[in-house]
Amino acid sequence: MTLASSAAFPARAVSGAHARITGTGSHLPARRLTNDELAARLAADGIETSDAWITERTGIRARHFADPGVGASDLAVPAAQAALTAAGRRAEDLDLIIVATSTPDMVFPSTACIVQRKLGAAGCPAFDLQAVCSGFVYALTVADSMVRAGAARCALVIGAEVFSHLLDFSDRTTCVLFGDGAGAVVLEASDAPGILACELHADGRHADILCTPGSIAGGQVVGRPLLHMDGQAVFKLAVGVLDQVAQAVLDRAGRTAADVDWFIPHQANLRIMASTARKLGVPAERVIVTVDEHGNTSAASIPLALDHGVRQGRIRPGDTLLLEGVGGGFTWGAVLLDF
Ligand code: UT7
Repeated sequence: MTLASSAAFPARAVSGAHARITGTGSHLPARRLTNDELAARLAADGIETSDAWITERTGIRARHFADPGVGASDLAVPAAQAALTAAGRRAEDLDLIIVATSTPDMVFPSTACIVQRKLGAAGCPAFDLQAVCSGFVYALTVADSMVRAGAARCALVIGAEVFSHLLDFSDRTTCVLFGDGAGAVVLEASDAPGILACELHADGRHADILCTPGSIAGGQVVGRPLLHMDGQAVFKLAVGVLDQVAQAVLDRAGRTAADVDWFIPHQANLRIMASTARKLGVPAERVIVTVDEHGNTSAASIPLALDHGVRQGRIRPGDTLLLEGVGGGFTWGAVLLDF
């Protein structure tokens, strides 16, 4: 007997001209640290920082940290359940699960398979996608392609991270920037769009400027499994590419910045977000900002911001959304969609 012929897991090829987000969800760990609380913790180890520096340079005021032992899948599952509820779907309806993460629960199996087990959605394909802070736009693009190709009709796309596990708390240039969390969307086959245009890029020549250069070999950790970032180099590359990739998806869909109801950029630094919005001509009040409360949650930042916008009643059905990510790799990309 092959799995493909198993009656329990029937192959479900379906067609759908478009893919549409039908539900969003998110989850943050309960432990919230303000800049002052983090600064006090670092000061105890002789590391000097301040709320004023962090707020002025990044816009971050607080972040959430998972407790020890809590993994990406633990944050992903409640986010996924909220998205399924919003979509009016059950785990059994899923025929694809993609988890964008750079902080998987373990080397293998994938966090997506662990999420699948915890949700009780056995049978459908499940895999992780690793594109660091661009992970969610990469995963949404892959899911959109699979839905439009008829390979799935009800996909769960998650961004889930516990970046606190990777932080070097003796490095003030990085440890104040990141946080933990998860966001999820249900993406379904639909007669109407949906996702209008996607564009992804990578340039591996810049792999060293944002990396966690560790691995496992022979039962030992090899290298340095803590986050390293040349912040200024990342900043310069990010502001150089983000407006271009956003303009590319607008052009491809025959839309302009004036059509964008909400711009939902990767939440790393308020200055990068403001600069991109300014270059595109999207007014500041049309930018969803959560970096102040979440910090940089890598692949989780965009779906977290999307879900917060939806639950605050700001993002409404029919709105045109411009999502865009940038991060380690160096990777970047954008997705334009009608919500
Ligand atoms: O998620 C992937 C995408 N990531 C990003 O988009 C991050 C991109 N980069 C950035 O957001 C910014 O480069 C940072 C927020 C990381 C840094 O801001 P910056 O304005 O580029 O600061 P800087 O690196 O030029 O540092 C300015 C000063 C330095 O001191 P000196 O050399 O001028 O005396 C740093 O040592 O600020 C100092 N500094 C700090 N001071 C207090 C660096 N970190 C801290 C800190 N507290 N936490």
